[in-house]
Amino acid sequence: MEKFIVHGPCKLKGEVNISGAKNAAVAILPATLLVKGKCHLENVPNISDIRAYVEILESLGSKIEYLSKNEMIIDNTDISSAIASSELTSKFRASYYLLGALLGRFDKVQISLPGGCNLGARPIDQHIKVFEKLGAKVEVRSGNVYATRTQTLKGTAIFLDIVSVGATMNAILAATLAEGTTIIENVAKEPHIVDLANFLNSMGAKIKGAGTDTIKITGVKELHQVSSYSIIPDQIETGTFMVAAAATCGDVLIKNCIPKHMEPITAKLLEAGANVEEFADSIRVSMDKKPNAFTVKTSPYPGFPTDMQPQICILLAISTGTGMIVENIWESRFQYTDELVKMGADISAHGTTAIVKGVDKLYSAPVRSHDLRAGAAMIIAGLVADGNTEIYDIHHILRGYEDITTKFANLGANIEYIQEDD
Ligand code: EPU
Repeated sequence: MEKFIVHGPCKLKGEVNISGAKNAAVAILPATLLVKGKCHLENVPNISDIRAYVEILESLGSKIEYLSKNEMIIDNTDISSAIASSELTSKFRASYYLLGALLGRFDKVQISLPGGCNLGARPIDQHIKVFEKLGAKVEVRSGNVYATRTQTLKGTAIFLDIVSVGATMNAILAATLAEGTTIIENVAKEPHIVDLANFLNSMGAKIKGAGTDTIKITGVKELHQVSSYSIIPDQIETGTFMVAAAATCGDVLIKNCIPKHMEPITAKLLEAGANVEEFADSIRVSMDKKPNAFTVKTSPYPGFPTDMQPQICILLAISTGTGMIVENIWESRFQYTDELVKMGADISAHGTTAIVKGVDKLYSAPVRSHDLRAGAAMIIAGLVADGNTEIYDIHHILRGYEDITTKFANLGANIEYIQEDD
């Protein structure tokens, strides 16, 4: 069994470098399937989700060479299979991007129904709608998704019923090599959507409007090899270190990030009373008092990201007043609050709302990492708390944060990684 022991309390001080964005990389890796050639990717985060994606791509016939831990060449000249139906695929949410990418190249695609973090119901109806509108037939049975097409996908107008990151990504992937023009409305605008579009455009795709509500894609017959593409910095990793700096009353310069992507988080930290200084590609966050309480309502970009909701809760948990979190994206994203209550937090969560009354201190306790971002919140709680906080189920954290113990150690934290025999 793996666990972290966080020795608290600690004031984070120093500099940290942000890795490439997980949620961009998990779309860009399958997007390379659209080109019969080589793609050179830089700033790829070295996290377990990416290692899993590499394994899945290799099972389809991709040849992948790591040039360094964050740089790889993917050669998809000879893809031998469009079936990605394995335990690995089923555990992994972002495996659904294989549907959009492989449908650009093959008539028949099969993948396991995707798994992922337990955040409540995770339907894929909008993904299916996208593929069907473009002319594919989609069936879900026996734990698999089967998508078939009898001819090249055909561009059309698609209106998403709900703003979905995944369905927007899949629509971009599937429409890139479709015949004619696809116009997708009510799309997600997250930075990783723009990064996928930029990556595909660098290979000859014709995608306009990524980052706005409407994306227009003029299908092209083929894409060409890309000499080198660098994935954007991770918005959520940046936000995690920003909140950790503020919660520990620290002073941290967060380097290699995009301050513009951080606006909703910066705004909340300023409300909390933190000092936030923005530079061209770095942000400095410091704090010298207990945080003020505030209200957070999650919403799609440019709103406050649901993936920062558990982390920002730690600031509220030690604030001077009573704050509120309203979760508008996932139906079950407050499970982690039970862990914080074990540490002395005063939180009552019902349905989509959590009321958080600030307490003087948090105290160490054995806690679980319910999902990736909840796990990051447990680390921040452990850094704030008195005593040694044991965090279990850390495989969730390792899915999405590169070198997390080293990065925190460089800021003065003491987080031990322990592997015990079961
Ligand atoms: N939804 C539907 N039908 C669909 C698709 C989504 O009803 O076909 C609903 C979902 O149930 C949810 C909402 O739409 O209520 C938004 O879901 P979305 O599709 O945007 O989420 P996703 O693509 O599955 C990505 C991230 C998540 C992040 C969400 C929201 C990846 C691989 N995952 O998920 O990231 O929480 O967008 O921003 O990009 C994480 O990184 O920790 C993580 C969970």
